[in-house]
Amino acid sequence: MIFPIYLYGHPVLRKTTKDISPDYSNLSVLLENMFETMYKADGIGLAAPQIGLEDRILVVDLSPYKDQDPTCDGFKKVFINAHIIEKDGEENTMEEGCLSIPTIHEKVPRFNRIRIQYLDENLQPHDEVYEGYKARVIQHEYDHLDGILFVDRISGLRKQMIRSKLNKISKGIVNCSYKVKRF
Ligand code: NI
Repeated sequence: MIFPIYLYGHPVLRKTTKDISPDYSNLSVLLENMFETMYKADGIGLAAPQIGLEDRILVVDLSPYKDQDPTCDGFKKVFINAHIIEKDGEENTMEEGCLSIPTIHEKVPRFNRIRIQYLDENLQPHDEVYEGYKARVIQHEYDHLDGILFVDRISGLRKQMIRSKLNKISKGIVNCSYKVKRF
């Protein structure tokens, strides 16, 4: 099932999500639907608030980055109850976009390396370190779990320059190819 993606301006995108409990119902169906929704919108990551849920869940599939980084090929992963416990390495800047903020792309600074603790789709715990593209995309999606959007991390001047576009999106005035939920 393909969910509508909640647009910038919807309050659920500003919520801090909560860890899920082990008896969460229909988890595998939800994860399947999150991937389906993400692929339909040509995304490489999706966080639960983007489909209106206040659960600490994100999914990524970095296969489209395989030309830049061969290790991204088949990097399809689920992060449940994710907690980044370290961020370090050089901070670098790269252009990002977000399925909840269609048509806007801005350069965002991120740490090059993260350490993250999470449960996989079988609720098995992991403690892993990621770098480069993987660290960037995970940080972007992880921010969603704390109610943070990439436009919060750009300079005040850039934010000023896209202010009217953001206002339009929050009013639902935007063209995009996938189903969205307007506030
Ligand atoms: Ni996003």
